[in-house]
Amino acid sequence: MKILDGKKVSQDIKDEIKILVDQLKIKNKRPPHLAAILVGNDGASLTYVSSKVKACNQVGFKSSLFKFDEKITENELLKHIETLNLDKEIDGFIVQLPLPKQIDEEKVLLSISPEKDVDGFHPLNFGKMALEMDSFIPATPFGIIELLNRYQINTKGKHCVVLGRSQIVGRPISILMSQKIKSGNATVTLAHSQTKNLQNIIKTADIIISALGIPEFIKPEMVKRGSIIIDVGITRVEDTSNQKGYSIKGDVDFEKVFPICSYITPVPGGVGPMTIAMLLKNTLRARNLLL
Ligand code: GUN
Repeated sequence: MKILDGKKVSQDIKDEIKILVDQLKIKNKRPPHLAAILVGNDGASLTYVSSKVKACNQVGFKSSLFKFDEKITENELLKHIETLNLDKEIDGFIVQLPLPKQIDEEKVLLSISPEKDVDGFHPLNFGKMALEMDSFIPATPFGIIELLNRYQINTKGKHCVVLGRSQIVGRPISILMSQKIKSGNATVTLAHSQTKNLQNIIKTADIIISALGIPEFIKPEMVKRGSIIIDVGITRVEDTSNQKGYSIKGDVDFEKVFPICSYITPVPGGVGPMTIAMLLKNTLRARNLLL
């Protein structure tokens, strides 16, 4: 088994969620409700949010999408967030990032009620996650842990090199991989743009989690034979042979690295679908239903 098939595993999770939602509906209870705020017209953000709404429909969740002009003021956005915080019919919501430059992202994340913060970006949730307390775990790192779990990959004592220290992926996954949890217990190195001897470090990795956003950065000569590779990169690269005018590339030169590693996530169809499944799982949690 080589491919860590995020598409298949995420479908399994969605099937499990749908069973729970159907049971709720039989009992005449309202389904979980996820809302999303999207500011501006960034193509990638539009695609991500549409996928999240589609996934809600697939499992029987209610979803609401609030789209705002890119010129919206910070105050207007904060007011809308407060409305969602107070809306008893909405269990959880996300504010799709990035936001336009006139808006202070930190202020926005702090204004989201921690009980509805299904992205797990609020400092209270992030802090609880770091302390191994019950909390919303950011969907992408949560998806990586779940994928390793479902394939029963032994991570204990392995050297895990995380590439990238973003608050959404690199930082939280580096914390989770070191924790005393199933699919954790690894020895973690968090590498970033200032890391020296990066290639030597990557070569010692038993597990590589790459969240750089540099298409095909990881080449076969950088990788130890038998390593496990989790590719979080999703970059749009111009491609005239594709109808859309672009294709999606991961951080790993997949074709060349595939023969060397023991497991690898494809792009697309690896971490991306897992992120969406875990957002749904967090929304279940916000509705006080745990899988
Ligand atoms: N932008 C890129 N990834 C994410 C995510 O997981 N959540 C939100 N809200 N914005 C993102």
